[in-house]
Amino acid sequence: MPVEPTPWTVEHVAETTSTNADLVATAASRPDRSVLRADHQTAGRGRLDRRWDAPAGANLLVSFLFHVVPDHPGELTQRIALAAAAAGHRLTGLDIRLKWPNDLLVEDRKLAGILAERSMTGDVVVGIGLNVGWCPDGAARLTEGGATITPAQMLDELLAAYDRLPADIAPTYRDALGTLGRRVRVELPGGVVEGTATDVEADGRLVVLDACAVTHRFAVGDIVHLRPAAGA
Ligand code: BTN
Repeated sequence: MPVEPTPWTVEHVAETTSTNADLVATAASRPDRSVLRADHQTAGRGRLDRRWDAPAGANLLVSFLFHVVPDHPGELTQRIALAAAAAGHRLTGLDIRLKWPNDLLVEDRKLAGILAERSMTGDVVVGIGLNVGWCPDGAARLTEGGATITPAQMLDELLAAYDRLPADIAPTYRDALGTLGRRVRVELPGGVVEGTATDVEADGRLVVLDACAVTHRFAVGDIVHLRPAAGA
């Protein structure tokens, strides 16, 4: 008999500083699979110490708390990314691809970003900001093709999609990862590496082969998808 997943405990607030910050601060007093969604964040956190801003009520701003953490904690982030991509596709028909490690893209434009953090007690909080009704210039949003979708609907669909994911998500993640086979630039504090993304390892590291045939493996970093080289 398949084991039923722990139910999600969903809370919705009109405004907070950051749903990630709230769940990190209150992790010990909340159940596993707590979900906190806000209409508006006054200090939304992005990756690499950036801010994440959106007009009130327009987009999905939500964080998930996990007490049960797999050996490779990045798997939780991958699961949220895959669930969000599947949910967005189901609601709109858009072709949503992942950019390593966990951005969601529509035709190379950013649809969503994900930030994972750890609490003092070792729990993992995964937050996603997904453009539903509004996006910055050059980015993508779920409603761009005319679909009428609310952030609450998108969250319901995402939670259902999460619970449909297989036990082993590695093949699903690899298939969804638009980065594989692309020329990429990896930006690191110490410099830049350019090459072709050839693989993603079981622990989530990206494998990049540079022009001198040197293989690099990245656990973290910010990457840019580059246009194919001329003549390639
Ligand atoms: C990125 O920079 O690409 C990641 C952005 C993550 C933003 C989301 S919005 C909900 C959650 N709360 C936060 O403060 N940040 C994440």
